[in-house]
Amino acid sequence: MDLFNFIKSNIDIVNVISQYTALKKTGALYWKGRCPFHHEKTPSFTVSPHKNIFYCFGCHATGDVINFIEKIEHISPLQAAQHLAERNNIEIPKEIQQQAGQQQGSKDYYQLCYSFASWCNKMLSKNAIASAYLAKRKITAPTIQHFMLGHFPAGSKNISNLISYIANQGFTTQNLIDAHILFQGKQGLYSPYENRVMFPIKEHLGKVCGFGGRIYLEDDTRVKYYNSMDSTYFKKGKLLFGLDSAKHDIQKIQKAIMVEGYMDCIALWQYGIKHAVATLGTACSTEHLQQLTKHAQTIYLLYDADKAGKQAVLRLASSCWQLDLDLKVIILPEGHDPASLLEQKEAIQPYIDRAQDIFNFVVDAKSQTFGQDSIKQKMAILHELLQVIAQENDTLKQNILLMKASESLQIPLEILKNEYTNRYNVQPKTTSQKIENTDSQRLGSIEEQIVASIAHNPRIMTPEQELLLTTGLSDKNLMIVQSVIDHTTKDKQSCNHTIEEMIDPSLKEYLRSIIFKAGDDASDQTFQSLMLQFQKKYWKSIISVIKIKIMQAKKDLNESEVQRLLNVFEQLKIEVYKNGRL
Ligand code: UTP
Ligand code: MN
Repeated sequence: MDLFNFIKSNIDIVNVISQYTALKKTGALYWKGRCPFHHEKTPSFTVSPHKNIFYCFGCHATGDVINFIEKIEHISPLQAAQHLAERNNIEIPKEIQQQAGQQQGSKDYYQLCYSFASWCNKMLSKNAIASAYLAKRKITAPTIQHFMLGHFPAGSKNISNLISYIANQGFTTQNLIDAHILFQGKQGLYSPYENRVMFPIKEHLGKVCGFGGRIYLEDDTRVKYYNSMDSTYFKKGKLLFGLDSAKHDIQKIQKAIMVEGYMDCIALWQYGIKHAVATLGTACSTEHLQQLTKHAQTIYLLYDADKAGKQAVLRLASSCWQLDLDLKVIILPEGHDPASLLEQKEAIQPYIDRAQDIFNFVVDAKSQTFGQDSIKQKMAILHELLQVIAQENDTLKQNILLMKASESLQIPLEILKNEYTNRYNVQPKTTSQKIENTDSQRLGSIEEQIVASIAHNPRIMTPEQELLLTTGLSDKNLMIVQSVIDHTTKDKQSCNHTIEEMIDPSLKEYLRSIIFKAGDDASDQTFQSLMLQFQKKYWKSIISVIKIKIMQAKKDLNESEVQRLLNVFEQLKIEVYKNGRL
């Protein structure tokens, strides 16, 4: 038996999925609940423990328990299997483990960290001063338990106590030294975490992989926070504090908040804002952001309202324009960070609601000194902004950004526009033209192969695929497919026309050329895989084309067309979701 089958047969699928969405037994064979993969009001997500699979009637997501974890946690099947084994305390037989090439070492490291965290957690309740410190910071008992906060009491007696605690769980002093929790000094073992309030740091699946410790004694002059050293298991520049617990909320609302400190993240969680994560003292990098975009498109930066925080946002902005995300900046009253604001019982939601688009934030920040800047500095700023604008592929947005820059920097719009078109050689053109220009070349071969398949078998398309193609295809291909659809829907039973009879005579030659190029593999399977490639690879272009078409149809007051396009859009989202692109 392989690892996957072993896990599947040792785990209750209903139990696992229930941890992500509430399931109710319906009838003898099924459980039902709201689908965790798409937004819905009435449950259409079913789990069959007999067949050992799930299936959603809304978005058609389906698979076994491993696929479920894979999809919801965004990890590989092997990671999903390991995760399930660890979460559910399943002992994997040695042969199966070896076959799957599992590393025993990593499991031990995480378990050791967990044991250490739980020891610190127990120690916290025994220390009045550390507890009082957290109380002063308005951290409540449930929050302490949720984040497993703790305390490392100082002194060799306590270190012995720790050693015997972890020895009970099969670990040695050397393990603690290897994990950089204890160090060998001249006078014996010590820890940099002694006399610190402890924050276990978990990786994205919730395994404790490192620690942060904060000083709390009044006369303590050491650095405020001490974090685990970088290692194979703990990479400061990549980890996001809180991601494990925030992930599902982030996915649900498609938004994430990025804060600077883990105290901020914890305070927000306690206040009910569960979609925040924190970097670990290192600057937020594009890599951090990319990790978050797996779960949500909109990311709010909620940084300390001081000079350093503002600088950090500006630095990040300069490196993130290429990323496909919607970045917003939340601005707090001067001198505050989220934790300090919440400690004073001030509401934070109004600030979140007033979040600024990153571009506006950058322009506003630059405009503050713009008046005093030298001509050279001014030019540099302008070109930086124009370059950013040039990366936008939506003309409307480009114009809005130009207007914003003109307004804030007080430079006449005409001058900015001139400079923009001259320097960046961007002819004002509509977005749809732009997509046709760039994408028709790229789309060419898949599009052509699809059209060739349809030429071989005009009835091959499902209604959904018809919608998708009529929305996504470009010019000639669209005309051909549209004619085919018109004919096949008109006379459903007897359509004996050849494809050449269906299409406009002017397209005949073009059609012959693509049929020739595409060869003669006309199987249904090939067509389905082409369709998948088409929508997978170009879903962004397709979505933007749909959006433009919707705008046009709204302008034309063509209600039925708007409705049709919205349906396509929904359908496409579901398809894309099903194929794991969102
Ligand atoms: P901050 O100094 O903003 O932390 O540093 P904070 O959240 O406001 O802390 P409190 O409210 O005073 O307790 C932000 C982050 O930078 C890292 C930590 O990860 C911290 O969460 N940091 C800060 C360190 O690693 N070492 C330090 O000495 C200070
Ligand atoms: Mn702070």
